[in-house]
Amino acid sequence: MSDDQWTSERMPDLSGDTVVVTGANSGLGFAATREFARKGARVVMACRTVDRGEDARAEIEAAVPAASLSVVECDLGDRSSIRAFAEKFRDRHDALDILCNNAGVMAIPYRETADGIERQFGVNHLGHFALTGYLLHSLRQSEGQSRVVTQSSGLHERGELDVERVRRRARRDGDPDDYDRWDAYARSKLANVLFAYELDRRLDATGADVVSAACHPGYAATNLQTRGAEMSGSTVKRWLQTAANRLFAQSADDGALPMLYAATAEDVQGGEYVGPGGFMNMRGAPERQRSSELSYDRALAAELWAASEELTGVTYDLERPASTP
Ligand SMILES: NC(=O)c1ccc[n+]([C@@H]2O[C@H](COP(=O)([O-])OP(=O)(O)OC[C@H]3O[C@@H](n4cnc5c(N)ncnc54)[C@H](OP(=O)(O)O)[C@@H]3O)[C@@H](O)[C@H]2O)c1
Repeated sequence: MSDDQWTSERMPDLSGDTVVVTGANSGLGFAATREFARKGARVVMACRTVDRGEDARAEIEAAVPAASLSVVECDLGDRSSIRAFAEKFRDRHDALDILCNNAGVMAIPYRETADGIERQFGVNHLGHFALTGYLLHSLRQSEGQSRVVTQSSGLHERGELDVERVRRRARRDGDPDDYDRWDAYARSKLANVLFAYELDRRLDATGADVVSAACHPGYAATNLQTRGAEMSGSTVKRWLQTAANRLFAQSADDGALPMLYAATAEDVQGGEYVGPGGFMNMRGAPERQRSSELSYDRALAAELWAASEELTGVTYDLERPASTP
């Protein structure tokens, strides 16, 4: 990257700020947590597995001895775990300044969440929808502007979303054989962007000083690509993915930059989409970009919102904290 390109060095001082990062133990979430900590933020690492979170925390503390980190379990595929996370957060912290909805799974074989929802949609979108709803009150307690940043993917561009079909599946009267793991991933990542924009519009309408933006990391070498191959039991796929990561991917540190930029750069507005500006938007320094046409469809976003409230049981009341089912 050239000298005038944005790096995490340019993040503002975050002393006194509280940040939540989901999926903080690995890949982009790990890199972002370390950089937030380096800038003085108190970071709550929301992790599916506490042991993995504690290992990551020790590694970050070795690199940033002054880091202020805590690890709290948050399984985004389990509504009760998300609710418990939010309750612990509210007990321990007065306000939340930055929420990074980052965790995710990609192209895994068909699985369901503890709540009986197709897992990629359930974890990547619905889990974050519920978490954000539960943390909305804390976000509104921030002294200055607070931000919600939702991690999508360039693959959202091939995403299609039939909200009624998602509902049918959740009711288990859909066709269980029509699962395509890449379509399901793209759908969940389109939902991430639709959600980020719709949240921003709803916050804006209430005058809340909370903005919501989306981002994507391009292509970064993390555990994301090998997890799906591992779950399908294919050594060849795993080997090919590892080789592709070595050859083509940027580092997780560089892949985390769009999220860090969206979370902290002064010029970022709500409803924006940030990604790497280099080769095919797969690498390079962060810049504002345009997401797919479909991601700006307000009617679809509103329909998704209603279905997400129904499927999670979390109702956003933008005047008060989200209700707890
Ligand atoms: N890397 C890329 O090239 C790329 C490209 C486009 C988009 N993204 C997006 O970037 C985000 C981060 O992925 P990554 O590349 O950093 O992959 P990663 O290294 O595999 O990290 C994913 C994180 O999500 C967590 N996670 C998975 N299921 C979860 C659940 N049910 N509840 C809570 N946390 C869960 C994982 O926890 P465990 O370690 O416990 O499994 C891990 O901490 C994802 O949303 C992904 O879609 C990445």
